Amino acid sequence: MKKLAIYPGTFDPITFGHLDVIQRACELFDVVIVAVLENAAKTPLFSKEERVEMIKEAVKSIPNAEVDVFDGLLVEYAKQKGAIAIIRGLRAVSDFEYEFQMALMNRKISDGITTVFLMPHEKYTYLNSSIVRELARLNANVDDFVPEFVAKKLKEKFKKN
Ligand code: COA
Repeated sequence: MKKLAIYPGTFDPITFGHLDVIQRACELFDVVIVAVLENAAKTPLFSKEERVEMIKEAVKSIPNAEVDVFDGLLVEYAKQKGAIAIIRGLRAVSDFEYEFQMALMNRKISDGITTVFLMPHEKYTYLNSSIVRELARLNANVDDFVPEFVAKKLKEKFKKN
């Protein structure tokens, strides 16, 4: 049976840090579904369609990466997909407490799905989507942090606003 993992997140937008985690996960699992949270408590800059489109473009050279959207409980979605694992990236100690709580709660709700933490390259430790959005909003260059087409999308977005 294929070993399937879910990599959930808001991906507003996808960054090189996320991509680093996806690449590592794809080496460990047969299939990795990058799952975009539809109903985030956050108000995303990009619609779910835009986020999915950017991720699809970013992972097009990784044959075992898929992209999907989910809503509701993560573990329910993971179960429905037949996943054995949830992937989360750990960038710094500051991520730990929140991730630890989430992983334990997910395990409490559904014991069959294991959270696997992967560390992106240390050059992405300081990276998150809001800092990229902030830089783009202020017209700074974000080419070191996101793929070219994402940088372009960010530019277009802030030109309109
Ligand atoms: N590189 C760069 N940035 C990264 C990163 C990486 N490897 N990993 C995470 N980040 C950033 C994200 O870009 C995001 O940045 P932002 O807040 O500045 O926009 C931030 O870290 C948070 O990560 P993200 O994964 O997008 O969202 P989240 O931590 O809020 O988690 C879910 C989202 C989907 C995992 C969680 O909300 C969930 O499971 N929701 C479903 C409902 C549910 O089941 N709840 C019960 C949980 S116990």
